[in-house]
Amino acid sequence: MSQSEFDLARLLARLDALGDSARDADGVLSRLALSEQDRAGRDLLAGWLRAAGLEVAIDAIGNIFGIWRGEIDAAPLMLGSHIDSVVDAGIYDGCYGVLAGLGVIEALQRNGFEPVFPLVVAAFTNEEGNRYAPDMMGSLVHAGGLALERALATVGSDGTLLGDELRRIGYAGDLPPGAIRPCAYLELHIEQGPMLEHDGIRIGAVENLQGISWQEITIRGVANHAGTTPTRLRCDAGLAAARVATFLRDEIAAGSATTVATVGKLRLHPDVINVIPSRAVLTVDLRDPDAEIFARAEARLAEFLEWLAARDGVEIDCRRLARFEPVNFDPGLVAAVDAAATARGYSCRRMTSGAGHDAQMLARICPAAMIFVPSRDGISHNPREHTAPDDLAAGAAVLLDVTRKLASGSAD
Ligand code: GLV
Ligand code: MN
Ligand code: MN
Repeated sequence: MSQSEFDLARLLARLDALGDSARDADGVLSRLALSEQDRAGRDLLAGWLRAAGLEVAIDAIGNIFGIWRGEIDAAPLMLGSHIDSVVDAGIYDGCYGVLAGLGVIEALQRNGFEPVFPLVVAAFTNEEGNRYAPDMMGSLVHAGGLALERALATVGSDGTLLGDELRRIGYAGDLPPGAIRPCAYLELHIEQGPMLEHDGIRIGAVENLQGISWQEITIRGVANHAGTTPTRLRCDAGLAAARVATFLRDEIAAGSATTVATVGKLRLHPDVINVIPSRAVLTVDLRDPDAEIFARAEARLAEFLEWLAARDGVEIDCRRLARFEPVNFDPGLVAAVDAAATARGYSCRRMTSGAGHDAQMLARICPAAMIFVPSRDGISHNPREHTAPDDLAAGAAVLLDVTRKLASGSAD
């Protein structure tokens, strides 16, 4: 790919700079939504968007849009992703899609391309949902799936109010959410899984995305002395939490080739060595691409929790944090991704996304599709997350080609 096309060196430098802007003194990168680190990353991004001559618009949920107006005022083609991260993250998840989207626009500008209609690069608020649930919140609000007032009233895992934090970091914009309704949406992302690397495939043309269910489960038992209480007299919330985790692995995930289940958070109270836990609070992340299997897995978990409460004599409450059905992407756009990859001589595979993405929310309001590139060792949500520069360049080239084709109004 020639320099006049996509500037890979600039993309790599920006990924590093954005990553570094969120590191603590120990070098750990965490850019939780609406944190100080998020503010710093947003400021960097907005500066790059303005330097590219784009008009920067911010909506009331903090989504950032860089707009390149076209010859006619029409629904724009949107390229996007997110820049917030999980705790102790890598530099690519989300940031790659946003910065490559900007790089594509810059490449088109350099080539004297004149888009028929506007091109927009978007960075959606709170995709990860680590601090405020649900995940994909900014794009969900944008797509009309969650009322702005409810989103702003979300209480975070640290007790903060989302609306307060958004104002505090200076990103409560005045654009009404959903005001920029795209004609199509493309999201370039690292795969975050092992498939492409394992099979030696360069580009994933993402056809669909699995259903995601998040719940917080609170189990109440009775605190008692760890030395004096016979096993048969215990009402152990910690043990019940462990039974939930093993049920998910041994019964739910083991019974299906596609279902995955994770207990990512577990807190015990009072959390000391010689007291039987009186309370356990754990999270369950349950996913499957098939709507029926997905719903059945959730129902089986609910039945198990009822059974467990009766058997272990504990009280169990569930709080739903997020639930999104599986999503199919637009077949025409997926075919365009596939064709663009093939035309470049890249191996390409149709595939399912295991991760949640803003594209699944945009798919509610316009044709949407995603492009994946390999993740080394399939590692993501981890500082070891890495994608080779050649693969980053290949994904950007495909994004550039599909964008150029769509933005020139080409029908074929
Ligand atoms: C988003 O990163 C997810 O949890 O899939
Ligand atoms: Mn992501
Ligand atoms: Mn992520």
